[in-house]
Amino acid sequence: MSGPAFLMCPPDYYEIAYEINPWMSLRRSVDKAKAASQWNHFYELLTKQIKVKVELLNSVPGLPDLVFTANGGLVRKRIFVRSNFRHKERKAEAGYFEKWFKKKGYLIKTIAQPFCFEGEGDALFMGQELYTGFHFRSDVEAHDALSGYLRASYFALELADKRFYHLDTCFAPLDEKTALVYLPAFEAYAQLVLLENIPDPVRVPEKEALCFACNVVVAGRNVVIPSGCPETTRELENRGFHVYALDFSEFIKAGGAGKCLVLKI
Ligand code: ARG
Repeated sequence: MSGPAFLMCPPDYYEIAYEINPWMSLRRSVDKAKAASQWNHFYELLTKQIKVKVELLNSVPGLPDLVFTANGGLVRKRIFVRSNFRHKERKAEAGYFEKWFKKKGYLIKTIAQPFCFEGEGDALFMGQELYTGFHFRSDVEAHDALSGYLRASYFALELADKRFYHLDTCFAPLDEKTALVYLPAFEAYAQLVLLENIPDPVRVPEKEALCFACNVVVAGRNVVIPSGCPETTRELENRGFHVYALDFSEFIKAGGAGKCLVLKI
């Protein structure tokens, strides 16, 4: 086993039970067998081929979005900063994450109410630098507390397109210099910040951004990308990444793909 370790949650109770982002529609239900098979393929790829360590959180009836573990909080070394979810439908998830990390001996940090913070969905490290997204889900005030806990300086990026409501739907650091980015999802100033600070920004086209091309899982030089993103795949391969394309269609119905299904621990 090498590289990062991830926390995942099996999709036993995953469904579309409410609408809290533009991707979710109560009229478009999940094919549960297909969701289970997509999740299992992803899990097998990570654990058997890419050989990363994956720990599991038990699924909970009535919390369908618990599969999206990226939103549980943010981990740095042995510190876990717990999320404060924006929507009432997801608020109860926070306690399950906290319990899991407490049991594993992490130091638990919380963000003062009323500020919202949705974990790795809105906070991504690129080297030692933290990039945070705010507007739709997380509050910028939460990111100030977060950077204090983790002793990391941060760039706060304002999101501008509700289809890209979490930072990890439009931005993905790949290594110290390269990141995938769908620029139109950001306010003008945030676009400048990204272009000024990222040595090699790979600009994802709209068509592929809408297939969640930025929602990639990175483990060393391995990248797991949703299928239907040939241009982005080519850009990654040109930079020496080994790219695996997987079908996440059942999870995209809820507004997430592979990256949202894992939390770095
Ligand atoms: N249905 C979930 C929500 O709207 C999807 C979460 C996707 N997670 C992510 N890290 N982008 O909260």
